[in-house]
Amino acid sequence: MAEKTKRELNEYVDVGHSELENHLRTQNAQLQNVADDADASRKLTDFLWLNIFGFAYHYLKSRFGLRHAYQYYPVGEETGVFKMPLENQTTQIALLSDWASDTPESDRIGAIAAAHKPDFSIHLGDIYFVGAPSEVHDNFISPKASWPRGKWGSLALSGNHEMYSNGDAFFKTLLPTMGVRQGDSVSTQKAGFFCLENEYWRIIGLDTGYTSVERPLIEILSPPNCHLRKEQLNWLKNQLHLSNPNDRRGIIFLSHHPPFSLFRKAFPKPAQQLSQLFGDFLRPVLWMWGHEHRLVGYQETKVAKLPIHGRCIGHGGMPVEIDAPKIDTDSIVFYDQRKRKSLRRVDVGYNGFAWLKFTNEKLDIEYRDIEDKIVVTESWEVDIKTGILKKVL
Ligand SMILES: [Fe+2]
Repeated sequence: MAEKTKRELNEYVDVGHSELENHLRTQNAQLQNVADDADASRKLTDFLWLNIFGFAYHYLKSRFGLRHAYQYYPVGEETGVFKMPLENQTTQIALLSDWASDTPESDRIGAIAAAHKPDFSIHLGDIYFVGAPSEVHDNFISPKASWPRGKWGSLALSGNHEMYSNGDAFFKTLLPTMGVRQGDSVSTQKAGFFCLENEYWRIIGLDTGYTSVERPLIEILSPPNCHLRKEQLNWLKNQLHLSNPNDRRGIIFLSHHPPFSLFRKAFPKPAQQLSQLFGDFLRPVLWMWGHEHRLVGYQETKVAKLPIHGRCIGHGGMPVEIDAPKIDTDSIVFYDQRKRKSLRRVDVGYNGFAWLKFTNEKLDIEYRDIEDKIVVTESWEVDIKTGILKKVL
């Protein structure tokens, strides 16, 4: 059997956000694999089955079929709270978003992150084109997959693309391979959200993907807003005790969707919900997300009174956008607009990932690119007596 065809970055240059288009692209990619294997006489039949019947089946199933059941942590059993190991003084975490494109670029980013030997690695969502089982397999599970697994484990969030196939492969195929090693056993990730913590920091992965896609008619009447479902809110309240004034650890939220943006539609609803959960104990947080394929850092921005230091790191594996923001460039702290090349006459930037190093109350972040160059660094410090998070200059 011939070697399976990898994808090329230029296949993704003008990829849109409609489910229809993304299903078509997945079918086309599968047809390409079959065509590489098949003799000429089989190609027409394969074309019909995969491209027309296969496409219609998968598309209609995803649009009108049932979404995968929402998974959450039942009280008293799995908590979804994972501990950073105490073994080393510094815990190193690789954050990759919009990375799973199965291209030479995503392979390279995966290899660089792996070479730095992360303790943990986290994907902030979007497996292209539709989070199908084969796409989860090719990016994360196959022996040739380039996902950089952390020494202690890996965790994953869902984006909108995983939900284009109802989240089936995200929940059934990907999550059972995600989790954290604790002692001799591995605690697998049982829901689309999680917390990874130590005595100074909490990294809270939020699921905004599940509520980012709706049924065809409902989508028009009530556009999806990426809200946190009540099961997730209960977990934040009753498991993480987010409003506990005695817990003043630094908080880093991770999500696929942006709570605000200077470039595209943002989804402030989760920030509004979190703001209410914090109650009187509102304090600045770091929040890192993807969805937009670029590297941007913003000044502190309040969404529903929640002060957010926002970082968009969606430049993991897709053609990187480098266009200028429409308005208000003053609120940008950094934005990597370097041109790497042109693909189909579109200028694209440098892929990359975020490298977080936690040492007690200190957090150093390096934003590394596809050549393993550090593009930007920043340092943060949390005072766990007051809960104040400040940037160290
Ligand atoms: Fe997305």
